[in-house]
Formats: sequence, C-alpha cells, structure tokens
Amino acid sequence: MSDSEISVYDMVGGDPIFRRLVDLFYDKVQADPVLRPMFPDDLEPGKQWQFLFLTQFFGGPTRYAQERGHPRLRMRHMPFPINQTARDHWLNHMLESIDEVGIDEPARSAMRDYFERGSTFMVNLFPSENIDEQQTKPEES
Ligand code: HEM
Repeated sequence: MSDSEISVYDMVGGDPIFRRLVDLFYDKVQADPVLRPMFPDDLEPGKQWQFLFLTQFFGGPTRYAQERGHPRLRMRHMPFPINQTARDHWLNHMLESIDEVGIDEPARSAMRDYFERGSTFMVNLFPSENIDEQQTKPEES
C-alpha cells in the first residue's frame, strides 16, 4: 500500500484520537458564549454524531451512514443561525483542538483545510439578512 492510500483516520491513530478531538472541541463549545446558546442543553447526542461523522469522513468505519444516513450537513445546520462570527468561533475551537491533540503533518493540514472550507460552507446567515432587522416590525405611521 502506498502512502497515498493511508487514510487520515489511520494516520492519526483512529478512534481514540478522534474521541479526544471531539471531547476537547465540545469543552470549548460549552464555554463559548456565542456558540453555547445555539447548541441543545444536552450536548452528548450531537457529540456522538460528530465523532461518527468525522471518523467516517476521514476514512474510518462508515458508522455515521449506517446509523444516520446521508450527512446532508448544510441542511442539518439550517435550523441554526450560523453567521461569520459563529463560524470563526467554531473553526478556532476545532483548529486549537487539533493542536491540543497533537496531530502531525500531513494529517494536520488535511484536517485544517477541510474544517476551514466546511465551516464556511455551513454559514447560512449573512450581513444583508440581519436577524434583528428581520424580526423588527416596520414602524407604524
Ligand atoms: C466542517 C464544518 C462542520 C462539520 C463537519 C460539522 C459537523 C456536524 C455534525 C456531523 C453534526 C451532527 C449532525 C447530525 O445530527 O447527524 C453537527 C451538528 C451541529 N453543528 Fe456542525 N459541523 C460543522 C460546522 C458547524 C458550524 C460552523 C457551526 C456553528 C457555528 C455548527 C453548529 C452545529 C450545531 C448547533 C449542531 C447541532 C448539535 C446538536 O444537535 O447537538 N457546525 N455538525
């Protein structure tokens, strides 16, 4: 097997490393005043989906697909008001978690690239759609 056939999942050390990554990431989400209100009270189910998705995405077992079906991630994120600020908080927590776990190159860059692009793709609230303006009724004359 050539190097190019080794998945990121295998490169980093499989399940235990992804478990640690997701634990660290969720600790940061829990402490984040921008992100915490967006997430449900019970973080555990989402944490498990995140673990199953990421292990699958990076070349590990296809457990997310078996248990949850097609990811359709952008659609699954539509209920949450994800603006640029929320995206930046999310991404910074993920990038910091990657370094706290101690993931080496080339897996580190592959993961960073994916999270940078993926988090941008998840933005669904843009400045022109300011949520306060949408919710403010026109003034009565
Ligand atoms: C590459 C970027 C991202 C990936 C791979 C990702 C992945 C996921 C996955 C796999 C789930 C669980 C889906 C399911 O229920 O099956 C999820 C849920 C969620 N994500 Fe993301 N996400 C990303 C970016 C973001 C961003 C930028 C935000 C907000 C700033 C966000 C907020 C949420 C929230 C609020 C949930 C629901 C959590 C829950 O129900 O417990 N995600 N995400």
